[in-house]
Amino acid sequence: MALKVGIIGCGTIGSELSRAIAEEMPELNLVALSDLKAEKARELAQRLPTKPQVLRTDELIDRVDLVVEAASKEIAGEVVEKALRQGKDIMVMSTGGLLGKENLFNLAREKNCRIYLPSGALAGLDGVKAASGGGIDLVTLTTRKPPAGLKGAPYIIQNKIDLNSIREAKLIFEGTAEEAVEGFPQNINVAATVSLAGIGPQRTKVRIIADPGIDRNIHQIEVEGQFGKLTSRTENLPSPSNPKTSFLAILSAIATLKGIVARIKIGT
Ligand SMILES: NC(=O)c1ccc[n+]([C@@H]2O[C@H](COP(=O)([O-])OP(=O)(O)OC[C@H]3O[C@@H](n4cnc5c(N)ncnc54)[C@H](O)[C@@H]3O)[C@@H](O)[C@H]2O)c1
Repeated sequence: MALKVGIIGCGTIGSELSRAIAEEMPELNLVALSDLKAEKARELAQRLPTKPQVLRTDELIDRVDLVVEAASKEIAGEVVEKALRQGKDIMVMSTGGLLGKENLFNLAREKNCRIYLPSGALAGLDGVKAASGGGIDLVTLTTRKPPAGLKGAPYIIQNKIDLNSIREAKLIFEGTAEEAVEGFPQNINVAATVSLAGIGPQRTKVRIIADPGIDRNIHQIEVEGQFGKLTSRTENLPSPSNPKTSFLAILSAIATLKGIVARIKIGT
Protein backbone atom coordinates (compact mmCIF):
# COMPACT_ATOMS: atom_id res chain seq x y z
CA MET A 1 0.00 0.00 0.00
CA ALA A 2 1.26 3.49 -0.87
CA LEU A 3 2.69 5.60 1.96
CA LYS A 4 0.46 8.61 2.68
CA VAL A 5 2.41 11.87 2.45
CA GLY A 6 1.48 15.43 3.41
CA ILE A 7 3.43 18.55 2.52
CA ILE A 8 3.45 21.66 4.74
CA GLY A 9 4.52 24.69 2.68
CA CYS A 10 3.47 24.96 -0.95
CA GLY A 11 6.17 27.31 -2.23
CA THR A 12 9.16 26.48 -4.43
CA ILE A 13 10.22 23.25 -2.70
CA GLY A 14 6.71 22.04 -1.80
CA SER A 15 5.51 22.49 -5.39
CA GLU A 16 8.50 20.70 -6.91
CA LEU A 17 8.22 17.82 -4.43
CA SER A 18 4.50 17.48 -5.22
CA ARG A 19 5.28 17.28 -8.92
CA ALA A 20 8.06 14.72 -8.38
CA ILE A 21 5.84 12.53 -6.17
CA ALA A 22 3.01 12.63 -8.71
CA GLU A 23 5.23 11.88 -11.70
CA GLU A 24 8.02 9.69 -10.36
CA MET A 25 7.01 7.97 -7.10
CA PRO A 26 3.90 5.78 -7.35
CA GLU A 27 4.83 4.26 -3.96
CA LEU A 28 3.95 7.59 -2.32
CA ASN A 29 0.41 8.93 -2.17
CA LEU A 30 0.31 12.69 -1.70
CA VAL A 31 -2.95 13.04 0.23
CA ALA A 32 -2.68 16.47 1.86
CA LEU A 33 -1.22 19.94 1.48
CA SER A 34 -1.04 22.82 3.92
CA ASP A 35 0.10 26.44 3.65
CA LEU A 36 -0.25 29.58 5.72
CA LYS A 37 -1.73 31.02 2.54
CA ALA A 38 -4.44 28.39 1.93
CA GLU A 39 -4.95 29.75 -1.59
CA LYS A 40 -1.44 28.59 -2.57
CA ALA A 41 -2.21 25.09 -1.32
CA ARG A 42 -5.54 25.05 -3.19
CA GLU A 43 -3.92 26.17 -6.45
CA LEU A 44 -1.22 23.50 -6.14
CA ALA A 45 -3.77 20.78 -5.27
CA GLN A 46 -5.75 21.66 -8.40
CA ARG A 47 -2.71 21.11 -10.60
CA LEU A 48 -2.00 17.62 -9.19
CA PRO A 49 -3.58 14.43 -10.51
CA THR A 50 -4.31 13.02 -7.01
CA LYS A 51 -6.10 16.26 -5.92
CA PRO A 52 -4.76 16.20 -2.34
CA GLN A 53 -6.90 17.74 0.39
CA VAL A 54 -6.00 21.18 1.69
CA LEU A 55 -5.83 20.94 5.48
CA ARG A 56 -4.61 22.80 8.53
CA THR A 57 -1.17 21.70 9.69
CA ASP A 58 -2.49 19.67 12.65
CA GLU A 59 -5.10 17.90 10.53
CA LEU A 60 -2.45 17.08 7.92
CA ILE A 61 -0.13 15.51 10.52
CA ASP A 62 -3.05 13.46 11.76
CA ARG A 63 -3.89 12.16 8.29
CA VAL A 64 -0.51 11.04 6.89
CA ASP A 65 2.31 8.52 7.45
CA LEU A 66 5.11 10.87 6.36
CA VAL A 67 5.12 14.63 6.94
CA VAL A 68 7.21 16.91 4.72
CA GLU A 69 8.05 20.33 6.16
CA ALA A 70 8.92 22.89 3.46
CA ALA A 71 7.54 26.04 5.09
CA SER A 72 9.65 28.02 7.52
CA LYS A 73 12.17 27.86 10.35
CA GLU A 74 9.54 29.34 12.69
CA ILE A 75 7.31 26.27 12.60
CA ALA A 76 9.82 23.48 11.89
CA GLY A 77 10.50 22.54 15.54
CA GLU A 78 6.81 22.54 16.49
CA VAL A 79 5.80 20.50 13.45
CA VAL A 80 8.55 17.93 14.07
CA GLU A 81 7.48 17.52 17.69
CA LYS A 82 3.80 17.10 16.78
CA ALA A 83 4.62 14.57 14.06
CA LEU A 84 6.90 12.51 16.33
CA ARG A 85 4.40 12.50 19.19
CA GLN A 86 1.91 10.95 16.78
CA GLY A 87 4.48 8.36 15.68
CA LYS A 88 4.96 9.89 12.23
CA ASP A 89 8.21 10.19 10.26
CA ILE A 90 9.12 13.66 9.00
CA MET A 91 11.41 15.21 6.41
CA VAL A 92 12.57 18.71 7.36
CA MET A 93 13.75 21.39 4.93
CA SER A 94 13.90 24.35 7.35
CA THR A 95 16.73 22.77 9.31
CA GLY A 96 17.56 26.10 11.00
CA GLY A 97 14.39 25.58 13.05
CA LEU A 98 15.91 22.52 14.72
CA LEU A 99 18.86 24.34 16.27
CA GLY A 100 18.55 24.39 20.05
CA LYS A 101 15.94 21.63 19.78
CA GLU A 102 18.31 18.69 19.46
CA ASN A 103 16.16 16.88 22.10
CA LEU A 104 13.81 16.15 19.17
CA PHE A 105 16.34 13.59 17.92
CA ASN A 106 16.00 11.76 21.26
CA LEU A 107 12.22 11.93 20.95
CA ALA A 108 12.50 10.39 17.46
CA ARG A 109 14.54 7.49 18.89
CA GLU A 110 12.03 7.05 21.74
CA LYS A 111 9.12 6.96 19.29
CA ASN A 112 11.00 4.79 16.78
CA CYS A 113 10.46 7.45 14.11
CA ARG A 114 12.79 9.06 11.61
CA ILE A 115 13.69 12.70 11.03
CA TYR A 116 15.03 12.99 7.47
CA LEU A 117 17.35 15.93 6.77
CA PRO A 118 18.18 16.25 3.05
CA SER A 119 21.76 17.32 2.33
CA GLY A 120 20.37 20.49 0.71
CA ALA A 121 22.66 22.71 -1.28
CA LEU A 122 25.79 21.05 0.06
CA ALA A 123 28.05 18.15 -0.86
CA GLY A 124 30.25 16.35 1.65
CA LEU A 125 27.86 15.82 4.57
CA ASP A 126 28.49 12.08 4.44
CA GLY A 127 32.15 12.81 5.29
CA VAL A 128 31.21 15.23 8.08
CA LYS A 129 28.87 12.65 9.62
CA ALA A 130 31.46 9.90 9.40
CA ALA A 131 34.20 12.14 10.79
CA SER A 132 32.10 13.10 13.82
CA GLY A 133 32.38 9.49 15.02
CA GLY A 134 36.15 9.89 15.46
CA GLY A 135 36.34 13.47 16.76
CA ILE A 136 36.25 16.74 14.81
CA ASP A 137 38.35 19.76 15.83
CA LEU A 138 36.92 22.35 13.49
CA VAL A 139 34.19 22.91 10.89
CA THR A 140 34.06 26.11 8.84
CA LEU A 141 31.40 26.88 6.26
CA THR A 142 32.15 29.73 3.88
CA THR A 143 29.16 30.84 1.84
CA ARG A 144 29.46 33.22 -1.11
CA LYS A 145 26.31 34.71 -2.56
CA PRO A 146 25.39 37.43 -5.03
CA PRO A 147 24.37 40.42 -2.87
CA ALA A 148 20.74 40.26 -4.10
CA GLY A 149 20.40 36.76 -2.62
CA LEU A 150 20.91 38.21 0.87
CA LYS A 151 18.23 40.88 0.55
CA GLY A 152 15.82 41.17 3.47
CA ALA A 153 17.87 39.07 5.92
CA PRO A 154 17.49 40.32 9.52
CA TYR A 155 21.29 40.72 9.90
CA ILE A 156 21.46 42.90 6.77
CA ILE A 157 18.59 45.09 7.98
CA GLN A 158 19.82 45.40 11.59
CA ASN A 159 23.34 46.32 10.48
CA LYS A 160 22.08 48.68 7.72
CA ILE A 161 24.23 46.95 5.10
CA ASP A 162 23.68 48.53 1.68
CA LEU A 163 23.90 45.51 -0.64
CA ASN A 164 23.61 47.71 -3.76
CA SER A 165 26.83 49.52 -2.94
CA ILE A 166 28.96 46.36 -2.76
CA ARG A 167 31.31 46.43 -5.77
CA GLU A 168 33.64 43.55 -4.91
CA ALA A 169 33.59 40.43 -2.73
CA LYS A 170 33.07 41.49 0.88
CA LEU A 171 32.95 39.48 4.12
CA ILE A 172 29.72 40.64 5.74
CA PHE A 173 29.26 38.07 8.50
CA GLU A 174 31.46 35.86 10.63
CA GLY A 175 30.12 33.90 13.58
CA THR A 176 28.70 30.59 14.76
CA ALA A 177 26.14 28.54 12.82
CA GLU A 178 23.62 29.43 15.52
CA GLU A 179 24.19 33.17 14.90
CA ALA A 180 24.15 32.68 11.11
CA VAL A 181 20.75 30.99 11.22
CA GLU A 182 19.36 33.83 13.36
CA GLY A 183 20.74 36.51 11.06
CA PHE A 184 20.00 34.79 7.74
CA PRO A 185 17.07 32.42 8.43
CA GLN A 186 16.09 31.88 4.79
CA ASN A 187 19.55 31.77 3.29
CA ILE A 188 21.60 29.52 5.45
CA ASN A 189 19.92 26.21 6.19
CA VAL A 190 23.21 24.66 5.04
CA ALA A 191 24.84 26.06 8.22
CA ALA A 192 22.22 24.33 10.33
CA THR A 193 22.46 21.06 8.42
CA VAL A 194 26.26 20.89 8.55
CA SER A 195 26.28 21.71 12.27
CA LEU A 196 23.69 19.01 13.03
CA ALA A 197 25.81 16.50 11.08
CA GLY A 198 29.05 17.54 12.79
CA ILE A 199 29.95 19.40 15.97
CA GLY A 200 26.82 21.42 16.69
CA PRO A 201 25.70 25.01 16.07
CA GLN A 202 27.92 26.69 18.67
CA ARG A 203 31.20 25.19 17.47
CA THR A 204 30.55 25.37 13.72
CA LYS A 205 32.00 28.57 12.24
CA VAL A 206 30.27 30.39 9.39
CA ARG A 207 31.52 33.14 7.07
CA ILE A 208 29.21 34.86 4.57
CA ILE A 209 30.66 36.77 1.65
CA ALA A 210 28.55 39.00 -0.61
CA ASP A 211 30.12 38.78 -4.05
CA PRO A 212 28.72 40.79 -7.00
CA GLY A 213 31.07 38.90 -9.35
CA ILE A 214 29.19 35.57 -9.10
CA ASP A 215 25.83 34.32 -10.35
CA ARG A 216 25.54 31.33 -8.02
CA ASN A 217 25.61 30.39 -4.33
CA ILE A 218 28.93 28.79 -3.44
CA HIS A 219 29.31 26.78 -0.24
CA GLN A 220 32.68 25.55 0.92
CA ILE A 221 33.12 23.39 4.01
CA GLU A 222 36.44 22.73 5.68
CA VAL A 223 36.68 20.08 8.36
CA GLU A 224 39.65 18.98 10.45
CA GLY A 225 39.72 16.13 12.91
CA GLN A 226 41.19 12.79 13.89
CA PHE A 227 40.55 11.53 10.35
CA GLY A 228 42.57 14.28 8.65
CA LYS A 229 41.12 17.13 6.55
CA LEU A 230 38.13 17.46 4.26
CA THR A 231 37.20 20.27 1.88
CA SER A 232 34.11 20.37 -0.28
CA ARG A 233 32.89 23.14 -2.57
CA THR A 234 29.45 23.27 -4.17
CA GLU A 235 28.50 25.89 -6.76
CA ASN A 236 24.73 26.17 -6.78
CA LEU A 237 22.53 27.72 -9.40
CA PRO A 238 19.32 29.14 -7.93
CA SER A 239 16.01 27.43 -8.63
CA PRO A 240 14.13 29.20 -11.43
CA SER A 241 11.26 30.31 -9.16
CA ASN A 242 13.10 31.36 -5.95
CA PRO A 243 16.62 32.89 -6.01
CA LYS A 244 17.02 32.10 -2.29
CA THR A 245 16.61 28.36 -2.88
CA SER A 246 19.32 26.43 -4.71
CA PHE A 247 18.21 23.96 -7.35
CA LEU A 248 20.36 21.27 -5.69
CA ALA A 249 18.38 21.69 -2.45
CA ILE A 250 15.21 20.69 -4.30
CA LEU A 251 16.97 17.79 -5.98
CA SER A 252 18.33 16.61 -2.60
CA ALA A 253 14.80 16.59 -1.16
CA ILE A 254 13.56 14.55 -4.13
CA ALA A 255 16.51 12.15 -3.69
CA THR A 256 15.67 11.74 0.02
CA LEU A 257 12.06 10.85 -0.84
CA LYS A 258 13.31 8.36 -3.42
CA GLY A 259 15.54 6.83 -0.72
CA ILE A 260 12.45 6.37 1.46
CA VAL A 261 10.66 4.74 -1.50
CA ALA A 262 13.62 2.38 -2.02
CA ARG A 263 13.42 1.32 1.65
CA ILE A 264 9.69 0.62 1.27
CA LYS A 265 10.52 -1.58 -1.73
CA ILE A 266 13.12 -3.63 0.12
CA GLY A 267 10.95 -3.69 3.23
CA THR A 268 13.26 -2.09 5.83
N1 LIG B 1 17.59 22.42 3.76
C1 LIG B 1 17.99 23.18 2.76
O1 LIG B 1 19.09 23.03 2.23
C2 LIG B 1 17.09 24.27 2.25
C3 LIG B 1 17.34 24.87 1.03
C4 LIG B 1 16.46 25.84 0.57
C5 LIG B 1 15.39 26.24 1.37
N2 LIG B 1 15.21 25.66 2.57
C6 LIG B 1 14.10 26.05 3.46
O2 LIG B 1 12.93 25.32 3.07
C7 LIG B 1 11.77 26.12 3.33
C8 LIG B 1 10.94 26.22 2.03
O3 LIG B 1 11.73 26.84 1.01
P1 LIG B 1 11.05 27.38 -0.33
O4 LIG B 1 12.14 27.79 -1.24
O5 LIG B 1 10.03 26.41 -0.80
O6 LIG B 1 10.32 28.70 0.23
P2 LIG B 1 9.06 29.46 -0.39
O7 LIG B 1 9.08 30.81 0.25
O8 LIG B 1 9.06 29.37 -1.85
O9 LIG B 1 7.81 28.63 0.17
C9 LIG B 1 7.48 28.55 1.54
C10 LIG B 1 5.98 28.31 1.65
O10 LIG B 1 5.67 28.01 3.01
C11 LIG B 1 4.53 28.78 3.41
N3 LIG B 1 4.61 29.01 4.84
C12 LIG B 1 5.36 29.91 5.51
N4 LIG B 1 5.13 29.83 6.83
C13 LIG B 1 4.21 28.85 6.99
C14 LIG B 1 3.56 28.30 8.13
N5 LIG B 1 3.79 28.78 9.36
N6 LIG B 1 2.66 27.29 7.94
C15 LIG B 1 2.38 26.82 6.69
N7 LIG B 1 2.97 27.33 5.58
C16 LIG B 1 3.87 28.32 5.74
C17 LIG B 1 4.61 30.06 2.59
O11 LIG B 1 3.33 30.66 2.46
C18 LIG B 1 5.15 29.53 1.25
O12 LIG B 1 4.10 29.13 0.39
C19 LIG B 1 12.27 27.48 3.83
O13 LIG B 1 12.25 27.50 5.25
C20 LIG B 1 13.70 27.52 3.34
O14 LIG B 1 14.54 28.32 4.16
C21 LIG B 1 16.02 24.68 3.01
